[in-house]
Amino acid sequence: MSRTALITGSSSGIGADIALKLSQAGYKVFLAGRNEARLTEQAGKCSAVGYLAGDLNDDNFLKELYLFANEKLDGIDILVNNAGIYIWSAIEKTDQSKISEVFKLNLQVPFNLCRLVVPHMKTKRWGRIINIGSISGVVGEANASLYSASKAGLIGLTKSLALELAEHGITINLVNPGWVKTTMTEPLFANETLDESEQIDMVPQRRWIEPYEVSTLVKYLASDNAVGITGQSINLCAGLSLG
Ligand SMILES: NC(=O)c1ccc[n+]([C@@H]2O[C@H](COP(=O)([O-])OP(=O)(O)OC[C@H]3O[C@@H](n4cnc5c(N)ncnc54)[C@H](OP(=O)(O)O)[C@@H]3O)[C@@H](O)[C@H]2O)c1
Repeated sequence: MSRTALITGSSSGIGADIALKLSQAGYKVFLAGRNEARLTEQAGKCSAVGYLAGDLNDDNFLKELYLFANEKLDGIDILVNNAGIYIWSAIEKTDQSKISEVFKLNLQVPFNLCRLVVPHMKTKRWGRIINIGSISGVVGEANASLYSASKAGLIGLTKSLALELAEHGITINLVNPGWVKTTMTEPLFANETLDESEQIDMVPQRRWIEPYEVSTLVKYLASDNAVGITGQSINLCAGLSLG
């Protein structure tokens, strides 16, 4: 019997690659994102059991997504909390509405989805939760304090839940990527909010992280072999966290 996975933010970027990697490894996958056209395309590539487009910051959609994915997958064995948004802004210029938007999507939505999937995992005495954080949540990033704070919150969530769920056969880990070229970051460099060569010069390996590096790690963390790894905050950043 193949295991099942819900991957949020799988219409593009890192999440799309995770969904593809897990489906190629034989997992039944369910995809979620906002852009229906891209989601449909990705779901086709992954032979997904299902997909649903909508805004995760809408509580009704979140509940609907959980119920639909849970039904289609006959229980969610693996949850990948990948959907996220990045805001680059000096603190005094940050719009107040962004505070709740960013905290909600990057931290509260993962918490809420964990809350919903854990009962099934406890019954099965097996589960994997993989959160996608950011190196900015580990080391801090000027002009990204809101994003950094939201991602730092995932460290506490991951460690605490790992302790709480260890005896139930459930592991929970956090992957913190460095810069990855996706629809999230490309506009920042295209419109020169950030200077690409300056940013890459700060990376010890002088390169971008590729989506497949993240998806390969996620695939491992989702496997039976990774049973001993729980509560870990794993930096996948080409050395960026080293100072
Ligand atoms: N790229 C990087 O350099 C980098 C570095 C560290 C960590 N990360 C993290 O990696 C994760 C994936 O980012 P990415 O780089 O792959 O970015 P991306 O290509 O922009 O993908 C973000 C995904 O999240 C979905 N999403 C955004 N807002 C949503 C909302 N309100 N409701 C539902 N879904 C929503 C997007 O859906 P639609 O596009 O369909 O709207 C998309 O599928 C994020 O958590 C990000 O913080 C990225």
